[in-house]
Amino acid sequence: KTLAPCTLMIFGANGNLSRLKLIPALFRLEQANVLPEKMVILSAGLEERSRDEWVGEVEGIIKAKYPKGYDKATFEKFKTRHQYHATPIGDAESYNRLKVLLDEDANYPTDVVFYMAVRPSEFPVIIDALGNVGLLKQTAGTRRVVIEKPFGYDLLSAQSLQKSLYKHLNEPQIFRIDHYVGKGTVQNVMVFRFANMLLEPLWNRHYIDHVQITHSENLGVGGRADYYEGSGALRDMIQSHLMQLLALVAMEPPVSLAAEHLRDEKVKVLKTIRPISQSAVHAHAFRGQYASGTIDGKPVPGYLEETGVASDSTTETYAAMKVFIDNWRWSGVPFYLRTGKRMAENASAIMIRFKNPPQDLLRATRHEPPRPNWIMLGIQPDDCLKMEIQVKIPGLELQTRTISLDATYRKEGEDEYDAYEGLLLDAMEGDHSLFLRFDEVEWSWRVVDPILKVWAMERDFINTYSAGSWGPRGTYRLFDREDQFWRHSLNVKGGDLE
Ligand code: BG6
Repeated sequence: KTLAPCTLMIFGANGNLSRLKLIPALFRLEQANVLPEKMVILSAGLEERSRDEWVGEVEGIIKAKYPKGYDKATFEKFKTRHQYHATPIGDAESYNRLKVLLDEDANYPTDVVFYMAVRPSEFPVIIDALGNVGLLKQTAGTRRVVIEKPFGYDLLSAQSLQKSLYKHLNEPQIFRIDHYVGKGTVQNVMVFRFANMLLEPLWNRHYIDHVQITHSENLGVGGRADYYEGSGALRDMIQSHLMQLLALVAMEPPVSLAAEHLRDEKVKVLKTIRPISQSAVHAHAFRGQYASGTIDGKPVPGYLEETGVASDSTTETYAAMKVFIDNWRWSGVPFYLRTGKRMAENASAIMIRFKNPPQDLLRATRHEPPRPNWIMLGIQPDDCLKMEIQVKIPGLELQTRTISLDATYRKEGEDEYDAYEGLLLDAMEGDHSLFLRFDEVEWSWRVVDPILKVWAMERDFINTYSAGSWGPRGTYRLFDREDQFWRHSLNVKGGDLE
């Protein structure tokens, strides 16, 4: 694809997101030769810097990302794209200068993408400043704004953030990133469902017992306590990333893959999630906080001992919930979502458990309960597709065993790209398919809001789990039956109650 010339302006260019994700992603796009020939990357930060100083920093960022040596020839080209513009806090004049630069300097393409790699509280401030000098009017070229989650703190604050964006922008100008949707394996959910006839007939309440969507991490809160204390696992992962995964797994086939068709279907699913009343929160949600423990054989502190965490914090680092989708396809099928920091493994996966056959013909020959079929889509660290089925064990007896059909679909030399690489290109191109529309965000908040309200009131007790474990034991109470349990491993041997 050849992209039209564009100016990409990154606010917060010196921050973590930009250093760790955006600038390296842009460099990789340069290497792949897919950036428009005429494209300026205009970085904005609070401090003054000369262009040369900034280019030196960009080089440092690339070197840090690729310590084993980076492609110098690509960097020579990459560096010519970079410019720097300081926007100190409260300096309205810097936006006037920006307006002159973008409107009058012929080196800057008039289609502009403003990327807000800043704290969410700064989104409205910067957007107001841009809007007030007329930089968001689409007279000379397109003007797009990219924002990152969190989109609000709850339903009300999400709506008020939205109001402040709508003062200067219309919906097609806004690109809300959920980097999970940009992951190649997540898009594979759609391909898997809609490009194969084998599965779609089974993808419903008649055959599926329940669905589990898990994102677990080894890492703790790290240096992000400041943000995380005000967020917690339910907001940080479930309201956003895991709800998106749920929508992709459960949605009806869209009319086409056009952005609005796709987003319409996702919203339909989110709308049909049965509301959880405050009195039902205990039966539908569970939270926990990591205590000290061991990760990779090394002792790690508990959440309350982390720098920046209040000693009596009840912020959850683990959250699990059960939802029902009250529609024709999914009525009665529970969807379990869970996430946690400092868990036993880094793993994100969608696991689908099928029902047992209606008649257990082999009961007499086996000593254990029947093992149902599972289909599992591993998202990370390995992208994989597995199906577990029963086969006869070779020999005279009629005994069965579970085997896994494992498909590795990446071929030698096929490199996975980072979610940000694709998303940056899409934003420059104006393709909304992998970005969230406001109603998706809003409906997702509606699902978690009652839980957040109850958890905010019950501030005296929180379950703990040892760092390096699979989370608090009590979380099993979310299951409806004894033969349902959290599936931790994608391998045949795992999967039993721990
Ligand atoms: C972010 C959360 O949105 O996603 C983090 O704020 C989390 O807490 C991260 O660690 C997980 O993303 P990934 O791509 O590393 O799985």
